[in-house]
Amino acid sequence: MAIGKSASALLAVYPITQCSNNKQRRGETGILVQAVKASEFEDGMMKDVLIQGHEFLLAKTGNNYYAADSRCPHMGGRLSKGKLEGTVVTCPRHGSQFDLRSGEVIRWLSGSGLLYRIGKALKSPRRLAVYKVAVDNDDILVDV
Ligand code: FES
Repeated sequence: MAIGKSASALLAVYPITQCSNNKQRRGETGILVQAVKASEFEDGMMKDVLIQGHEFLLAKTGNNYYAADSRCPHMGGRLSKGKLEGTVVTCPRHGSQFDLRSGEVIRWLSGSGLLYRIGKALKSPRRLAVYKVAVDNDDILVDV
């Protein structure tokens, strides 16, 4: 969902560690949920966060933050255990790569041989779902 004018205007503070203690507010276009503190994030870091029962991957490259589904659209590999190079995350299971800016498939599976060809034939490439992120002071917010 698109993020409206300012993060604080739409802010729905919802720390994942204290979800039941906080309220949410619906903004113009969606719900911004506090995921983690920006100060907890280092450049090149990936982390899984649970927000409203959904697992998200949060990543930081440079000064930018990205949010996506935490599981690979191929066969559910946990992307946070993979590799982050710039904005491209590589799945640890079969090497698919996705651009966290758009969810675009950069590479669908890696390898060679019969198993690789069968895997490619059985499941066609699927984009990774990505979500807008806003930063409000030290809060990283995900538009869920
Ligand atoms: S589970 Fe990610 S590439 Fe297969």
